[in-house]
This record gives sequence, structure tokens and C-alpha cells, in this order.
Amino acid sequence: MEAEGLRGRVLSVASECVPLIKTGGLADVVGALPAALAGQGWQMRVLLPAYRSLRARAAGWPEVWASDDLFGGRGRVLAGEVDGVSVLLLDAPQFFDREGGPYSGGAGDWPDNALRFAALSWAGAEIARGGLWDGWRPDILHVHDWQAGYAPAYLRYQGAGAVKSVITVHNIAFQGWAPAAMLGMLRLPGSEFHADALEYYGGLSSLKAGLVTADAITTVSPTYASELMRPEFGMGLQGVIAARAAQVSGILNGVDTSVWSPEADSEIVAFSQRTLARKAENRAILQTEFGLEVPGPLAIVVSRLTDQKGIDLIPAALPEFIEGGGGLAVLGSGDPVLEGAMRGLEARFPGRVGVRIGYDEGLSHRMFAGADAVLVPSRFEPCGLTQMYGLRYGTLPVVTATGGLADTVIGATPATLAAGVATGIVFYPTDALALRLALRQLVDLHADARLWAQMQKNAMRHPVGWEASAAAYARLYEGLSG
Ligand code: ADP
Ligand code: GLC
Repeated sequence: MEAEGLRGRVLSVASECVPLIKTGGLADVVGALPAALAGQGWQMRVLLPAYRSLRARAAGWPEVWASDDLFGGRGRVLAGEVDGVSVLLLDAPQFFDREGGPYSGGAGDWPDNALRFAALSWAGAEIARGGLWDGWRPDILHVHDWQAGYAPAYLRYQGAGAVKSVITVHNIAFQGWAPAAMLGMLRLPGSEFHADALEYYGGLSSLKAGLVTADAITTVSPTYASELMRPEFGMGLQGVIAARAAQVSGILNGVDTSVWSPEADSEIVAFSQRTLARKAENRAILQTEFGLEVPGPLAIVVSRLTDQKGIDLIPAALPEFIEGGGGLAVLGSGDPVLEGAMRGLEARFPGRVGVRIGYDEGLSHRMFAGADAVLVPSRFEPCGLTQMYGLRYGTLPVVTATGGLADTVIGATPATLAAGVATGIVFYPTDALALRLALRQLVDLHADARLWAQMQKNAMRHPVGWEASAAAYARLYEGLSG
């Protein structure tokens, strides 16, 4: 494992990682970081729970760590490699060998989620402190979101030695709340149960625990980093983050440009900036797939259907867009009310609105290839990946001016159009009226073929890879370990 030019080792701890388990962009990012950081001389291994769906895969993998008392049962870590990513699976059947998703089963969230992910965090902290049986020891413990939030706390309270910790906030809405009575069960010191440490509105929050104990805090865009210090976005944790402002930084996510590449995507009719005309073939295929006939701009939504994503604004904003010649194809799942609202639009505008409820990676590629625009009307968006897929495929993003959306899309205004730099449409505030006006602007811009093609080329040129962000993580690690 001793790579040439190795600058250090990082143990990444998370609940999701592509290609093994994914419910959202967290998995894409955790799965992409190891290769991105390898290019910077940082070797990263990823610790994940061995969910039922992953256990068979780890069957022949060697055991590299074990504990007889991982919160009341045995836990062991198995080491393997998946698509070039060095993966460590925490096999603790009492917590992870269950039918269902990572966080919930048929009857909603698992009631012992606090304990399940505390176990993951405990194993992460122990490995960071003592290393693995194969001799590997990290210099940095890098944890993601509430699921791994207790890991920096365990590391600090048990004695961190030279190991430094980083917590990345992908979404502050999920905070890992638990009642104060669980303090002992979670192996947290009673002396730290006060407002400046573990106590959170009378209870516990694994995310807060990570935020107060990690050596550095990052989030996934510069704008979200500053938004998080404000009450509208901090969701109760704004003061905690503001108090550590000197340790907070925003590092934009990248996208995997080998997977998201219009020149080399096996799902689509390939095209490039020079052969943009071939995008029309993808549009024809997409219209057929959704049973649509759209004279004007064809927009898409590929998203979890949740309140965060502003999906509820679409029904009120859409009729004028449809009248103006537009169409919409939706792929997503989530809140049943929003799923119903999308189906309602499909019924109301046959041939103009098409909806697929579900998750379909291949279809999502065909949608980005064939559409003219991707709508991301989020109320908050720590980074967001789909607007970046849109940029790559010349599918112009229509986004709210928040978080990573604001950091990746240059909105069309008279000035940006005159300067030839616009890559999409940016609107604010997040309400149906502003979305309606943004869609009106979309119809107008799309009608001007020369201007539209210019914006598509600007978008496709916009860098969305990992290079700059990987370098920023490497600088952060170096600053901490140096
Ligand atoms: P979030 O993590 O908040 O859901 P992101 O934009 O960061 O938002 O990441 C979402 C990821 O999940 C993207 O890779 C997106 O393409 C993918 N995705 C979301 N819904 C679907 C779906 N229904 N089918 C296929 N891919 C989806
Ligand atoms: C979260 C955020 C999303 C971000 C993703 C990866 O799911 O909602 O904005 O892109 O994490 O960091």
C-alpha cells in the first residue's frame, strides 16, 4: 500500500458510498473522494456499515479489526476493494443486517438509529486511534454528516494522539437527535453534557457532537458555509457553526466526469460542444420515452421529491410555461404528496408533462442528454449535483440563488449575456412567482437560437470536475497534519 509520493492517510467514515449504497449525493461524493484525493497523494479508505445488501460481497474479505463489545454485540471490519475504492465494511449484524434502507425499514426510521450510527462512529474512532491489523493507520479521520458525527467526539474524549479530524456537513437538516438519557448508552462523558459541548436543546445531536469536537469543519459549497451561520439555514446549529467560523470552510463538490460525459456516455447519442446538433436526437428519444411532444423548451427534474427541493412550487409555476410551449419530464420519488402533485400535472397536461416515480440511473442520463433545461428550485442546497450534470450536457440549469447552486451557475442577466458568460437561469426568492418568471425567461432565451447555443457552450466549458476541490481538501489535510 506504500504509494510513491504518499503525503498521508485518511479514514473516511460515512453511511453511503457509490457504487455500494446510495440514497443521495452524499454517496456520490464519498465514493468520488478517494480517487480525487489519490491524485493529491492522500490515500483514503472508506468505512461503511455492512448493510444486508453488502454482506455477501464481503464474504471472502480479511478481518482487519474487531471488538467483542460494540455497543452490546460483536463487530468486525472486513477490508476489500470495490471499483478501485478501498472499502472497510463494519459487520455488526445486530445493527445492520436488516431488510430495508440504510435508515429505515417498512415501518419508518429504525428506532435505534442513534445507536446504530454511534457504533459506526465508535469503530471509526477506534481505527483512527489504533489502526488496522493490516498495519494501516490514518493521519486524518474525515467523517460525513450526522451518521458519523460521534466519531470525532469519541476520538477526542478517548485521546486522539496525533490524529486530526474533519467533519463535512452535506445537509444540516439531519442532525442525529437522541434523548439526553442515552448519554451513557452512547458512551459519551457526562461532564461534556453542557451547551458548549454535547447538549443540544436539552438532548443530544450527533451532528453537533462532531461540529464541536472536530479539528476542522467543511461543507460542500462556499455559499452554504456562510449560509449555515444564519438562522434561516442553520436549523438550530447556526450558533455552533458561527462560534467555530475560523475552522469552517466550503469546498465545492465535483462530479465524476468519466461517468457524466456527453462525449462518452453509453446511454445516449454522444455529442460534444462541436456536435451540439446531435443533442436534438437525444431530445427526440427522450420525448418518445415520456410520450411528449413539446414545441418549446423541454425541462427536466431529477430529484428526491422533498420539501428541500422546492418541488411544491412547480404546480403553480408550470401552467404559464406550458402555455408558452414548454414541457416537463420528472424522475424522482419521495414525499407521497409531491409524487401525487407531479402525477396530477401529468394528467392535466398530457403530452407536455411526463412523470416517472422511482429511481433510474440510466434514464437520468438520457434525461440530461435530451433536455434543454434542468430545474432545481431548492429552498436550500448544500451543493447539488444535478445542476452540474446539466452544465456538462448543455442542459441549462434553472436554479435558486442558494448554496452550491449559487456557486456553480452564472445566471442570465443583460450584463452576463453581454459578457458572454451566462450558463443558466438563477432566481430568488424561492417561491412560485419567481419560478414562474424564471420559466418565462427560459422560454424567451430558448427562442433565441444563437444566444441559447452560446449559453450551452459556456455551460459545457464550465469546470465541474474534482481537481480544484481535491486540491482544497489536500491543503486542509496538510494544514492539520503538518
Ligand atoms: P441530494 O443529495 O440532496 O438528493 P444531490 O443533487 O447532491 O442532491 O444528489 C442527488 C443525486 O441522486 C444525483 O446524483 C442525482 O442524479 C441522483 N438522483 C436523485 N433522484 C434520482 C432518481 N429518481 N433517479 C436517478 N438518480 C437520481
Ligand atoms: C446532500 C445535499 C446536496 C449535496 C450532497 C452531497 O445530500 O442535499 O446538496 O450535493 O449532500 O454533498
